[in-house]
Formats: sequence, structure tokens, C-alpha cells
Amino acid sequence: MATSKIASTVDQSSHSVMSVQHLIAKEPLSSIPQHFVRQQERQSPFSNIETGSLPSIPTIDMEQLLSDVAAPGADIEFQKLLSVCKEWGLFQLVNHGVSDSLLEKLKEETEEFFQLPFEEKVKYKMEGDFEGYGNMVLSDNQKRDWGDRMYMVTNPLHKRKPYLFPELPSSLRSTLEIYIEELQKLSMKLLGLLARGLKVETREVVELFEDGMQSMRMGYYPPCPQPELVMGVSAHTDGTGITILNQANAVNGLQLKKDGVWVPVNALPNAFLVNIGDILEILSNGIYKSVEHRATVSSDEERISIAMFFYPKFGSEMGPLASLTNPNNPPLFKRIGMEDYVQGFFSHLSTGRSHLQHLKISLKNN
Ligand code: OGA
Ligand code: NI
Repeated sequence: MATSKIASTVDQSSHSVMSVQHLIAKEPLSSIPQHFVRQQERQSPFSNIETGSLPSIPTIDMEQLLSDVAAPGADIEFQKLLSVCKEWGLFQLVNHGVSDSLLEKLKEETEEFFQLPFEEKVKYKMEGDFEGYGNMVLSDNQKRDWGDRMYMVTNPLHKRKPYLFPELPSSLRSTLEIYIEELQKLSMKLLGLLARGLKVETREVVELFEDGMQSMRMGYYPPCPQPELVMGVSAHTDGTGITILNQANAVNGLQLKKDGVWVPVNALPNAFLVNIGDILEILSNGIYKSVEHRATVSSDEERISIAMFFYPKFGSEMGPLASLTNPNNPPLFKRIGMEDYVQGFFSHLSTGRSHLQHLKISLKNN
């Protein structure tokens, strides 16, 4: 996948940390190490709004959505999906068809994975790219997130790193295989519906994502004695078509930016959080919004999440869909091949700049 290199996550200087979980397990912290402290970012989230008056995140019912499609005319849920993706770029998905028992098993096995001794997990440590286990350290002076992650490309199969997915504990691996397959089907259904909502040939979008690149990030956010000083995941948009986030132990933390204000998501047990990523914003020529989001951490509860990222397939090229643009509605983004896109995305990640911004066409030059 991305060829961009990142600073090693192994202890090279006294400041480097491989894992937040194991750093704090060694000895109780008397204060938060400076490289996690982001006071400025955390100071103003709700300063201009009463928390009680925040809008709540829309919920979409997948069963309702599919029955809408079977009975055209009665498409209330479908219309809701479209307006939510234009205005919010994110929704909670219920009745999604992935069984509670599978979700329960996955939650338990993910917890067990993060509870493995450090020596076990270090086998999966990041090796010069973004894949693997650990607290991501991009550079010595960059602020770090209060959380550890295990990030892996899961599709196409030949891109799976031999020391990652195939080496996972076998029960976790087989649960993940089933989960990935289920989410893959779900993502294709959602992408098909979103394409239909654009009134383009559904095939145009579906073919792009069929056997597309897929990756997974399991996240572990330990409790933090001063959660107001740190960030579990700093603000970003996803580089995906869509992302399906499973807030496995239903601990709150995720927030999205709406009209300049950070709005917290009230995690519903066994629901998914689906968000639009940069690629769907590009394909839809700005109709669907890639939403900025972040995750905070708690003072007394660990938070576990599993994000699945869905991208187009390698070898494809993407840009605003031709049927959506015309002289009065010019393309807002440049066309780009999937390989270049992935490389660009990760190199922008290292510098903290927005890749989507970089792909925007300046209309003045048009
Ligand atoms: C991500 C993300 C949120 C979370 O990995 O892109 O937004 O709760 N994760 O882990
Ligand atoms: Ni994200």
C-alpha cells in the first residue's frame, strides 16, 4: 500500500512510546506526558453552545431502507439517507443484519487481543509504514493520540502483510473473516443506494468498489486521568468511499463537526456508525459530505472501536462522475488513479494536511 515512511514506533528516544496502554500500566502517571497534551484543541469545543441543545445524530434503519427499495414510492427512509449524507455525512445504522452474537464475539476477542502481553503484540509492530500495532508516532514533535491501534489492509488478499492478519490468534482471525465478509456486503448495499440517490448508473459506483481496497483499524483507548488534555483520535476526514465504525463496547467518545461545532455521538449498542469519506465526496462532486470527526477518551472506561474502511479497487481511476458534471456544474476535484490516491493520502496524513483539499480544483482557474 502506501510507500510513505513514518518514524519508527519503537523506543528510540526517551519520548517515544510504543503503546499508551503499556506505558500507563508500568507505573501510574503523575501527569500526562507533554507529547499527548493538546490543550488548545480541547479548550473550545462547546464554548458557544449549550450541550443540551446539540442536535442528535440521525439514525437509519437498514431493514426499512431495503423495504423502501422493494416498494418504490414508499421511500421515506431512502430520502432520509440521502439528506443525511448531504447534510451530516454520518449516521448510525440499526437493523443492519449483522448478528448480535457475531458482534459480541468480535468485541470479546478484540478485548482479548488488546489484553495480550506487550511481548505478544509487539510481533505486529509497525514496520516503517502505517500497518501494524502501536501508538502511531509520525514524528518526534507531533502530538500523539491517546490510544493504540492495529491497522491492516484486509483486501485485496495479496496485500495482506504476512506478519499481520495471518498471524492473529486463530479465533479472532476466523471471527474477523466472517465480520469482514458481512461488512463487505453491507458496504456494497449502502454504496449502491448512495449511487442510486445520485441518479447515476448504480453500476458505475458499484464496479469501482467491487473487490476494492479494504482496511481495518482496531482501536484501544485506555482511560486517561486527564481526558480533557488529550485526544483519542485527532480531527480528520476519512480517505474512504465509506467507513463503517463499530463502537464495540459502546463507550461514547466519537464527535463530528457540524456547522463549526463538535457534536458528540451517543453510541447505541450494536449499531454501526457509517460515514462518508473523501472519495464519495469526490465521486458525487461534493453532493455527499466527507465529515470531519475525532474521538475523545474517558477518565474511567476503556474504549474499543473497530473501523472498516472501503476504497475503490487498485487500478481504477476516480473523479467526479461524468454524468454529474456539465459546464454549469464543473468538476470540483481532479481525477486521480487509486495508487496515487493512496500514496497521496498517507503522505498528507504524515504532514497533517488535508488530501481532499489538495485534490480540489480551484474554480478561478477553470
Ligand atoms: C478512524 C476513526 C474513530 C474511533 O479510524 O478513522 O475515525 O472511534 N476512528 O476509533
Ligand atoms: Ni475516521
